[in-house]
Amino acid sequence: MWKGIQEEESVFTIMSAMARQYNAINLAQGFPNFEPDIGLTAALSKMVSYSVHQYAPMAGLTILRTALAEKVAVYYGSVWDAEREITISAGATQAIYTALQACVKEGDEVIIIDPAYDSYRPGVLMAGARPIHVPLTYNYGSFHWDWDAVRAAITSQTKLIIINQPHNPAGIFLSDNDWQEIENLVVENDLLLLCDEVYEHMVFDGKAFISSCTRSAIRDRLFCVVSFGKTYHNTGWKVGYVLAQEDWTRRFRQVHQFVVFSVNSVAQHVFSQFLSTDDSYRYLSNFYQRKRDKFLQAMENTRFSMLPSRSTYFQLADYSRISDEGDVDFCQRLIREWGVAAIPLSPFMQKPLEARLVRFCFAKTDDVLYEAANRLSLC
Ligand SMILES: Cc1ncc(COP(=O)(O)O)c(C=O)c1O
Repeated sequence: MWKGIQEEESVFTIMSAMARQYNAINLAQGFPNFEPDIGLTAALSKMVSYSVHQYAPMAGLTILRTALAEKVAVYYGSVWDAEREITISAGATQAIYTALQACVKEGDEVIIIDPAYDSYRPGVLMAGARPIHVPLTYNYGSFHWDWDAVRAAITSQTKLIIINQPHNPAGIFLSDNDWQEIENLVVENDLLLLCDEVYEHMVFDGKAFISSCTRSAIRDRLFCVVSFGKTYHNTGWKVGYVLAQEDWTRRFRQVHQFVVFSVNSVAQHVFSQFLSTDDSYRYLSNFYQRKRDKFLQAMENTRFSMLPSRSTYFQLADYSRISDEGDVDFCQRLIREWGVAAIPLSPFMQKPLEARLVRFCFAKTDDVLYEAANRLSLC
């Protein structure tokens, strides 16, 4: 095994198995309990009767990459070349792994900001590099970027920084000032930036999301990783894409061809067609903001203190008024005694946080959110 990679089952597997065992409401795992748009599933049903079942080209279908180049140009006003700068991946996780293998090596250091999505660290270790974990700061009941801490962590070995924005689970994203800080750090220290933007279309309260793909200062140093799974309520399809300047795309594809070779052809055909007419992603922020607000309102009857959730479909909650036990123990007791599954935060952090926090996923139908809040009101 690789040194430093967790060998046991992940916290998601453990909590979900317990949730099933106790017939609990599962707000632990980060996926919707509702179906994708009927237009998407109808397009899939129709597509399977066509001749679309053999290997797609290694970089992805040209029609899909062209549709994505158009979407990014229209939505973000940012121009990326479909042929040379866009690659279709088997979801964001594969794209992150592949990008890491393509550009970091033994002796390099990669900065990861905690709490972090659980695939970052193993991806860095499997490339032979060293993960350097820098926590977000936590004060006044919310998380904040800490660019001084990131700056202090940079050494002559640092090769790449991974940023997840909008951030799971903190629900924060980068302002123009944050971007200027990162651009300075990346350019001055000759670094690469991997920006995981799978929650790009879930940003609340009228705020604007600034995608990495629009930042010209770091364009030549960037892997911008996006997933269809979160945007189209179909996490199981595992399709995403990567924007990277030509040389980095070439390096990415050198690894990609031996990791997956090519990505599900049927799903790519469906998305090629669907993207040309669909603009539902423009309404996704409103959709999830309404769910967040309903969940927050229902949770007012509980003793949890809710942190601000400004983006993504996650809500952090402080349980210190209910218990002072550790977050893993508390989450297990939540399932056993109150029938609701949540995710503890400590497995996402290298250094444990003093605060008592758990994460709820509100990508659930309203009845499920209300019933969960009802059960949690008994804690
Ligand atoms: C921050 C982050 N990145 C990546 C992913 C995975 O995306 P995909 O399913 O496309 O691999 C997730 C899923 O939970 C996530 O939260």
